[in-house]
Amino acid sequence: MDQPAIHPLTIDGRDPAPLRGDPISGDRYTSRDFMQQEWDHLWTRIWHVAGRTAELEEPGDYVVHDFRHESVICIRQDDGGIKAFYNACGHRGMRLTNGSAFAEAFTCPYHGWKWGKDGVLQYAQDPHDFPQGNPCGKLTLKELRCATWGGFVWYTMDDAAPDLLDYLARCRSFTKITRWTRASGCSG
Ligand code: FES
Repeated sequence: MDQPAIHPLTIDGRDPAPLRGDPISGDRYTSRDFMQQEWDHLWTRIWHVAGRTAELEEPGDYVVHDFRHESVICIRQDDGGIKAFYNACGHRGMRLTNGSAFAEAFTCPYHGWKWGKDGVLQYAQDPHDFPQGNPCGKLTLKELRCATWGGFVWYTMDDAAPDLLDYLARCRSFTKITRWTRASGCSG
């Protein structure tokens, strides 16, 4: 079987060569500066697991993934695809939803703007009063890259991150996992 191409940023967890043996001091767990470095160079660049594809069976099913000060909605589309959006209204940034559920659209609790599950603005108060013109059908929520693999829904905040399958190339080559399914009779 052909081995998948390995992206240069991919780290092989079994290979000790990239490990420099730096001591891990206690301030790693308390330092704001180190936390910021992790945010800038790690968490905003990797692919995150938002949930399981099995949670998004029907169009409108969605999961919310909160990570530090960010929150992301992953929602099943009418065409069967999944889109990811920042969980923030495109008007003044109000959080749109909590938890995981079903929605045809998200109505912002602040001024009532309504965003379709495709992220497009459907309703705004007095839309013809905007000097730039009616924003409905034009404005969209800020979208992130989203993909699926192994029965999980993934997203990344980094537009320049490698594609998910390249990012997971080494993992895929030694786990042989292609799909997770819930065994009947199991819960949770
Ligand atoms: S912040 Fe959402 S409608 Fe104003």
